Amino acid sequence: MRLFLGCLLFLAAGVAPAATLVVDTGDGARKLTTEALLARPDVRDIQVRGDVSYHHDAHYRAIPLKALLDGVPADAHLQFVALDGFTAEVPASLVLDGHGAEAWLAIEPEGAPWPALGTGKPSAGPFYLVWLHPDAGHVGPEQWPYQVASIRVLASPAARFPAMQPAASLPANAPARHGFALFQRNCISCHTLNGQGDAKLGPDLNIPHNPTEYLRDAMFRTLVRNPQDLRHWPQAKMPGFDSKVLSDADLDDLVAYLKHMAGRKASH
Ligand code: HEC
Repeated sequence: MRLFLGCLLFLAAGVAPAATLVVDTGDGARKLTTEALLARPDVRDIQVRGDVSYHHDAHYRAIPLKALLDGVPADAHLQFVALDGFTAEVPASLVLDGHGAEAWLAIEPEGAPWPALGTGKPSAGPFYLVWLHPDAGHVGPEQWPYQVASIRVLASPAARFPAMQPAASLPANAPARHGFALFQRNCISCHTLNGQGDAKLGPDLNIPHNPTEYLRDAMFRTLVRNPQDLRHWPQAKMPGFDSKVLSDADLDDLVAYLKHMAGRKASH
């Protein structure tokens, strides 16, 4: 028994289990194994500066994500679902033409697992979306999904979740419209709005109450910049967004969107 356990521990420490990535671009799900992905001719060694999940520079075997997205239209959305059910949304346009930002799918080799993300935590594998030159495409930290199990092509959140949309009558350059884009990029992975969305981690940001109804403007900004500066407890899950990710002007637009949506509550 002890020997058996020893073997298991040895296995657990030295070898990542074989993994499968499900990719569904609309014409049926494809299953891609670690082995098949690493055998592709377009696999490269890449160096990622300031890796968002590991907080330092990191090396990966990776393929350009674009290569898996043949025939996907630029106005589609990619939904990444992690092993634990966490979802991240990335507009396909950012992957197909990121204005210099490049999306790579990092693949954890079976014989050489990546480090743990923290004490007692698994690694970012088996599959992890990393970016080269993320700033060029304004790629946010929520757009680096790790432990990815599947990638699906979906319509945009605006089309799937109409109750999240600002009023059609708002002009195209209205701050609330830009705020909605920021909400989709940074908040939708954890928060629903008007009861719509796939997120399960954080509270709904409009019903029963919109945070702009009970938090003074400055408090709301404090919360988004560093949630622990407003309310502090050990199990808090919301990350802070610094001014590189959301500028002060972006925060203005996010507030404009939330205030606007406070006037468009879904009945419940
Ligand atoms: C990784 C998940 C995650 C992301 C991304 C995220 N939040 Fe949160 N948020 C949470 C969780 C979880 C809570 C509940 C408190 C906690 O555990 O930190 C929360 C709480 C909040 C609250 C307080 C609600 C209340 O009154 O208790 C507000 C407001 C909020 N988030 C706004 C935002 C905005 C705006 C964004 C995008 C800029 C955002 N969150 C992005 C997870 C997230």
